[in-house]
Amino acid sequence: MNIEPIFPQAIIGQEKLNLNNEEIIKIISNEEFSSIEENVYVSKNYQIFKKLNYLKEHILLKSTEYIREKLNYDVYLQESSSWVVKTLPTGRTNASHNHGNCFLSGVFYPKGNEGFSITFFKNVFETWRPKPLINNLFNCEKITLKILEDNTLILFPSSLYHRIDPNLSKDIRFSIAFNLIPKGEIGENDSKIYYK
Ligand SMILES: [Fe+2]
Repeated sequence: MNIEPIFPQAIIGQEKLNLNNEEIIKIISNEEFSSIEENVYVSKNYQIFKKLNYLKEHILLKSTEYIREKLNYDVYLQESSSWVVKTLPTGRTNASHNHGNCFLSGVFYPKGNEGFSITFFKNVFETWRPKPLINNLFNCEKITLKILEDNTLILFPSSLYHRIDPNLSKDIRFSIAFNLIPKGEIGENDSKIYYK
């Protein structure tokens, strides 16, 4: 029997960017941070792309490619917010969350490590939960992606729930998170809107 995914929600794009990650870490290390959990810090600056224009340009290029060529939406994108998360060894958050008032979100890891990961959750949880014989895309409720490579970019719909996973390495984990919104005209007929 053939089965097909219909209305798949959890669409994740992963890409390795060709950038000077040491330079990026030097810039973001100098930010002022607030603690959100033990050993997890978030920058006070929510417009970090203003200091990392070349990273922003790379991300906008890849995000536009993802949204137009993979998801096939007729839309262009612009940044709405961008910030740094600094997670020390053992640092973690338990709460899953999604990002409000934006369209596409993402996270960029300048350094990869066997102990770094991010977990995504299915937005609708089933009430019956038989134990899967083998885990696959139809029966799993969460997916953990390891961040093994330097300069890894992950893109996902802003509505998708995710979590800052524990830092299982001995190194500081830096990530740059961002939200994107449409640019220009989107939609048609009575749902047409224009974003400057
Ligand atoms: Fe997030």
